Amino acid sequence: MLMRAVTVSRFGGPEAVEITELPVPAVGPGQVRIKVAAAALNPVDAAMRSGVFGGAGERIGLGWDVAGTVHAVGDGADWSVGDRVMGLATGHRTPLGTHAEYVVLDADAVAPAPAALSDAHAASLPLNTLSAAQSLDLLDLCEGQTLLVTGAAGGVGTHAVELARLGGLEVTALASADDEEFLASRGAAHFLPRTETLPPAAFDGVLDAAGLGRAALAAVRDGGTYIGLWPGQEPERERGIRIGALDVRADGGQLAELARQAETGRCWPASPGPTARRRRRGPRTPGRGRPAWTDRPRPLNSGGRIVFTPLNPGRPVRTPVRLFWSRARAWYEPSRRHPATEGTRNGPRGYGGADGVGG
Ligand SMILES: NC(=O)c1ccc[n+]([C@@H]2O[C@H](COP(=O)([O-])OP(=O)(O)OC[C@H]3O[C@@H](n4cnc5c(N)ncnc54)[C@H](OP(=O)(O)O)[C@@H]3O)[C@@H](O)[C@H]2O)c1
Repeated sequence: MLMRAVTVSRFGGPEAVEITELPVPAVGPGQVRIKVAAAALNPVDAAMRSGVFGGAGERIGLGWDVAGTVHAVGDGADWSVGDRVMGLATGHRTPLGTHAEYVVLDADAVAPAPAALSDAHAASLPLNTLSAAQSLDLLDLCEGQTLLVTGAAGGVGTHAVELARLGGLEVTALASADDEEFLASRGAAHFLPRTETLPPAAFDGVLDAAGLGRAALAAVRDGGTYIGLWPGQEPERERGIRIGALDVRADGGQLAELARQAETGRCWPASPGPTARRRRRGPRTPGRGRPAWTDRPRPLNSGGRIVFTPLNPGRPVRTPVRLFWSRARAWYEPSRRHPATEGTRNGPRGYGGADGVGG
């Protein structure tokens, strides 16, 4: 049986994206095959499309996040056909990603999709929430310590602010001035507009989700911790600061716990916040076929834990979308320059494997 999948075999802009007919992937022991209902677009997809992680001439499947239903179960996998699930498919050069009609994942990379959430919402959770939670694990700060999150209004940053606050950290968010109110609502105790110079040696830890590098490192106190999101591109160590970078891991158990928090918590409000409103007003490029916002967020009963990544209609790479094949290519519009394309100490390296913090 054949299916459609989004792939690249040469790098470039959206024109490099191919809709390929491929055999439906076989399910192996310990795996599940998922019939894809929704798959989020993330910065990593645009980076893979443009060749940041290499693999020229190979067929590379795009898409890391997925929500859907279990379609086939391999030996030893503790799922049933029809289970509604979500999961994370890591890998920068795998031949098939989640932007496909079916995807096979290891059973332990999958978690139940929260019943209260739409497929599109569920698909927006795995990469962002796991990245935020695993970054905070790497930071290893204690209750009451101070944390600066750069890029705090982004997918990873927003969840990091929320989770850090839940963990009792005093969070400062660095973002566009327009996002101050939004980030306060997500738990940031303090706000710094991105136009301002960061205070030197002021924080116990920094999660550098905006990829500021040395500028963010300068804000860490002597002996503090810096965690970036681009392995191999960490700034040089100084002042006894512990430096590391996230390599996000698929972890169904951790994702299930994060989803439970999401399900019992507040959702992105029915009236979108400043970031989404600003982006929605942004200019449309005639004929570019910006994806329709197919699934507006619905408010859940409040009660308080995780909230959702803002759905940014003006930013295709952040928008969870249903798979409408006729328009798929337009979703992969060029994103902002990916930090991994810049010259760095160690050169670009992918993420999606083991994480670690250097001394
Ligand atoms: N290593 C890993 O395992 C891992 C895991 C997940 C993600 N990532 C990478 O981490 C990066 C962030 O991911 P994401 O999903 O959070 O991306 P995102 O949603 O695009 O968020 C990035 C945020 O940074 C902000 N920003 C950019 N420059 C800034 C500056 N100078 N000061 C303050 N804020 C600034 C952006 O604001 P504007 O939109 O207003 O410019 C945006 O809100 C991506 O490159 C992604 O590929 C790595």
